Amino acid sequence: MKIGDKNYQSIWLDKSDPSVVRVIDQQKLPFFFETKELRSVDDIYNAIDDMTVRGAPSIGAAGAFGIYFATLEINSLTNIREHLSNAARYLINCRPTAVNLSWAVNYVMKKLDNNTTSLSLSETALNAAFEICEIEKENCRQIGNYGLKLIEEISKTKKGDPVNILTHCNAGWLACIDFGTVTAPIYFAHDRGIPVHVWVDETRPRNQGAKLTAWELGQYGVPYTLVADNTGGHLMQQKMVDIVIVGSDRTTRTGDVANKIGTYLKALAAYDNNIPFYSAVPSTSIDFSITHGMKEIIVEKRDPAEVTNITGFAEGKSQSVRICPEDTVAVNFGFDITPARLITGLITEKGICRAIEKDIKKMFSDKFK
Ligand code: MRU
Repeated sequence: MKIGDKNYQSIWLDKSDPSVVRVIDQQKLPFFFETKELRSVDDIYNAIDDMTVRGAPSIGAAGAFGIYFATLEINSLTNIREHLSNAARYLINCRPTAVNLSWAVNYVMKKLDNNTTSLSLSETALNAAFEICEIEKENCRQIGNYGLKLIEEISKTKKGDPVNILTHCNAGWLACIDFGTVTAPIYFAHDRGIPVHVWVDETRPRNQGAKLTAWELGQYGVPYTLVADNTGGHLMQQKMVDIVIVGSDRTTRTGDVANKIGTYLKALAAYDNNIPFYSAVPSTSIDFSITHGMKEIIVEKRDPAEVTNITGFAEGKSQSVRICPEDTVAVNFGFDITPARLITGLITEKGICRAIEKDIKKMFSDKFK
């Protein structure tokens, strides 16, 4: 994505120094646009854990570069197999909900297992990490094309008025290497002069909507309005929302979707008001081994301080303030599960399908064992 006069991805290898992976520091946005250097498996782990890098596809790519760093840490004394599988387990366990992390790490490990070429382990791992970045970018491009059709259909009924899209969290290019899953259809519609307007959920407790989605849309020139998370239901009742599009961290083969906490409540409101509710989900975010979201998806629990405190900008710096009485007990679930029955459809890189196993199988038959 272009920022100023320079094209950026959310994560990339430093061309001048292949021992450095650079990321956009998503903790600093929107107040500061900074990149961060990562040089080791631990750096990658910490960047995923503290959400310097976040969003399912970006977390996956970071995990892939983590295995690359693990190969760079091999020396003559290293038990290579043991070292690499320890690194893989360590990275995969960093954050449990987004399936892209284990998918990407295992993708690289498989390439290393099958490494019959003269390429060194590091070259093979690096090429695999690059492949994953290209796969995720192409997934978003295709999701953009199919999602654009949905927006175009609605626009035809709007007599020139904007298509009002509500979204939750950030499933933009920052979360996805480039283009974004939810944002690609919006950017492509905007590029074609189709009037769109986005209701941006603030997305407490970490405010990925207020901070990252608002920043992205602002950079691109897409009209948006920031709303408190509890506003969406009222907007839907008032017929001020034409469609809801959210991301996915892990979708079951039956269509249940795990996404940022609060997504389920938006799905309930959309269902009650007959508003189309879509999840933009690349196949890299589909866990084809599970069928029941509520029973089989691990929902991450994070530090309660993310709930008792809020981070904002004041006096020229980013700072955290407490929003409740001292010693308040809080709990911080990072995601929730939207059951397939509340989902109108999935926007995937292969097209739009209903959130049912039969349709998902038809679209991704090669993934169904
Ligand atoms: O905790 P985060 O910020 O990593 O959560 C991100 C989301 O829930 C996104 O909607 C999801 O990862 C999809 S990104 C394409």
